[in-house]
Amino acid sequence: MAPDETKPTNSKSGGRKDAVQPYSGYLQRTPPAPEHHLTEVGPGTPMGEYFRRFWHPICLSEEIGDVPKNIRILGEDLVVFRDKSGSVGLFQPFCCHRGAHLENGIVSERGLRCCYHGWLFDVDGTVLETPGEPPSSTLKDKVFQGAYPATEIKGLVHAYMGPPELKPHPPHYDLFDVPGAAFAPFSTPFPNNWLQSHENNVDPVHTVFLHQRITEQFGEPWAVLPHIVWDVTNNGDGLTHLDGRRLDPETVWIRFVHTLVPGCSFIPSTWELGAAPLYYQRALYMRFTVPTDDENTNVLGWRVHGPGFPGGDAALMGPGRTDMEGQVDRSDTLSHEEMQRTPDDFQAQGTLWGGQTLPFHGAEHLGSSDRGVTLMRKTFRNILDGKVPEAFPKPATEEPDGARPRLNYSFDALVNVKALADEKADFDMIGALGRDMADAAMEVAQSTDDQGLRDQNTKAAIKAVEAAYQAKHQVLR
Ligand code: FES
Ligand SMILES: [Fe+2]
Repeated sequence: MAPDETKPTNSKSGGRKDAVQPYSGYLQRTPPAPEHHLTEVGPGTPMGEYFRRFWHPICLSEEIGDVPKNIRILGEDLVVFRDKSGSVGLFQPFCCHRGAHLENGIVSERGLRCCYHGWLFDVDGTVLETPGEPPSSTLKDKVFQGAYPATEIKGLVHAYMGPPELKPHPPHYDLFDVPGAAFAPFSTPFPNNWLQSHENNVDPVHTVFLHQRITEQFGEPWAVLPHIVWDVTNNGDGLTHLDGRRLDPETVWIRFVHTLVPGCSFIPSTWELGAAPLYYQRALYMRFTVPTDDENTNVLGWRVHGPGFPGGDAALMGPGRTDMEGQVDRSDTLSHEEMQRTPDDFQAQGTLWGGQTLPFHGAEHLGSSDRGVTLMRKTFRNILDGKVPEAFPKPATEEPDGARPRLNYSFDALVNVKALADEKADFDMIGALGRDMADAAMEVAQSTDDQGLRDQNTKAAIKAVEAAYQAKHQVLR
């Protein structure tokens, strides 16, 4: 039967019928339909409404000056400002009187005053003044400017854009409570759908090729193909992958990466770690994949620095800037050809399916090394199907004493475990070693809210795992 070129397909497993032959370009000209369900984030879409159940960072505090700032989040155009008393407001852009754009509003002692007829709005949208109306007017008591709750946390403005009655407490992460930890906010916009950015966090194979073998960005150890073990946390509120690598006959590097729904990723070091042993080094980046709209994404977060968080240069962090290699558009300093010769996430993730489009999952051919991507999509499908209650934040009304900090389990460790004589056995052993270390680290994490104590106990637990493997595996290759 002749292929129907006009009819898009949407196979979840990837691949189009009749294209399994050489020189099949003619048969593959028409892309399949995008997976709208997972990728679209506008108001009323399944994923968009899921995103709206959470607080998200939307910009850096330093980006709000003394005039309102236009901002686009989840496909909605908004205006963010800070009034002179220090309160942050996030408004729908058009004045509820007659529609003047509030980017031209005047920041006031309390709230924002529309420039057209002087209506004054508090940060929650309450109309404080309608100066053109007679004193007896009650008009201001009957209308509200459309506003979303916003607050500032460690230099990032956060907003909640979901149903008011379901609003959770503003986020609190375990890393906030690590003694001595400091937080440098940053943002890195990408010209791609949010899911492409977030899937990049669970794709450790791309770091081997894109970030080291092709463009030498991360350091020599990254060129080693790791033993990867993927898993889900808490019935599907997040994913983990551990990447185990043998660096030399004495040394194994375990990197454990945890992502949480909907778009949180906790990324350990992206540099070389130095000499073993290093029993427990936490994530250095807290990153949040925040959809700008269906075609653009902003990854915002904090570079964690201070004692116990070495490497890089936290002073480089800021709006549109990060000290992590490969995350920013270099077109202002490099020619197009230079970027072709040194591709990074901007040239790879940022151009998936052409960039600034919904991804065509039906045209992909996922392998076993893409298990993170497969698992992530499955997790989100399950969430949208209502199968994972753990993946929804509790409304603040159900947590009168405040929210428990969200735990992340990411870490790096370098341990001394000798190579087994048989290469395949050694590769398998590295996977088991990593699994045991990760299990030990997660058990400690759940045992205490004291993050200083958790550091100490996790180091001891990973050291004990190392000792057990040293005792079991004595044979040098
Ligand atoms: S349009 Fe804003 S006060 Fe009239
Ligand atoms: Fe990357």
